[in-house]
Amino acid sequence: MSTVTVHPASALSGTVVPPADKSIAHRAAMLSAMADGTSRIVNWPSSADPASTLACLRQLGVETGEEDGVLLIYGGTLHRPSAQLDCGNSGTTMRLLSGILAGHDFDATLMGDASLTPRPMQRIMDPLLQMGARIESTDGHAPLRVRGSRGLQGITYRLPVASAQVKSTVLLAGLFAEGETTVIESTPTRDHTERMLGLSTVEMGEDRYISSTRENRPRPGMWSIPGDFSAAAFFIAAASIVPDALIRITGVGLNPSRTALLDILRAMGAGVDVRNERTVGGERLADLTVRNRPLSGVQVSGSIVANAIDELPILCVACCAAGGPSDIRDAGELRHKETDRIQAMTAGLRALGADITEHADGWTIRGGKPLTGGHVDSCHDHRIAMALGVAALSATDAVHIHGAEIAAVSYPGFWDELARVAIR
Ligand code: S3P
Repeated sequence: MSTVTVHPASALSGTVVPPADKSIAHRAAMLSAMADGTSRIVNWPSSADPASTLACLRQLGVETGEEDGVLLIYGGTLHRPSAQLDCGNSGTTMRLLSGILAGHDFDATLMGDASLTPRPMQRIMDPLLQMGARIESTDGHAPLRVRGSRGLQGITYRLPVASAQVKSTVLLAGLFAEGETTVIESTPTRDHTERMLGLSTVEMGEDRYISSTRENRPRPGMWSIPGDFSAAAFFIAAASIVPDALIRITGVGLNPSRTALLDILRAMGAGVDVRNERTVGGERLADLTVRNRPLSGVQVSGSIVANAIDELPILCVACCAAGGPSDIRDAGELRHKETDRIQAMTAGLRALGADITEHADGWTIRGGKPLTGGHVDSCHDHRIAMALGVAALSATDAVHIHGAEIAAVSYPGFWDELARVAIR
């Protein structure tokens, strides 16, 4: 376990290029693996989570190559793996791959690390079992044994929890099912799977109906992965809270199902400009310029929470710097991430002197109290490590972040980037 020490910053300056989006990378690799022929993925990230997906696909017999920095995937038929599929720290790998494997006629077992093993898997097993899949778990947790399919049936499934992973798992299984599979979501979640597969989506009142059939099986093609908004978020927040900060963040994916943090920070008074907007591979991206401005407190609850779910730990840090109280509620899902993120941010920020109260579904933060130096723990969670690293920039003394290496799950090189743009 490695410890990184972050010193207070008097200013921030420079340009940051965030790593490629891991949500899109997982899907690009899985769709390419299912497509019969050669697919190309431009800007494949070096982060650990997408590497877990690629390793599992290779175990399923998918061959890969590289040409001028472009990842090549020779897709087609998946084959029975000779060993357990190791999903590492990646919930997206385990859940989405289970949907795909549920439609195949061989047995496969998916396992993960100590953080992934206790995470809830019943939420994907329920709809897959309804479709006729044969899956075994230990009390709804990994390892998951997906047994050879005897054929899946399309279902209509209303999501009981706002989760893009559950939605995607069901829609991917729908590619192998008899008839049509429809997922109904009443709270919008990230829409990469339906976009990338070109699935039909119908909106009725508050509900979105998204459907897949065998006809939607992917064809080989080229995917270009935008910069990860969720990774950029750490530098957006950093520049919002450090005095005299001016940061440019280039090539940031701005899929509207992911960018609620921008609206929230702007409501707090943050200075974020969006420039050079363009569309690449069907996804909107742009360069962001962020400069320090005084922040006020904010109330966050309801359906916007799902859109900002991965950004809530770093939002807590911005709330500590705000000149007033903030409330973040309806975010109980955070307790089921790589760690219990509600508890982990409460412990980390409190260790630095923040005035933060933990609720079952979020926090109340009374901002404006300067953070102090100290020791904090990543809890083996990449977003907790990075959020506390950004908090350290605004502290009065050095902060030691234990287990900091976990940032590489989504952002290899994060600590070097943070040190590069920070001026002491
Ligand atoms: C993801 C969906 C979200 C998010 C995770 C990635 C995805 O999880 O927290 O980091 O790629 O679909 P849930 O869908 O479980 O909320």
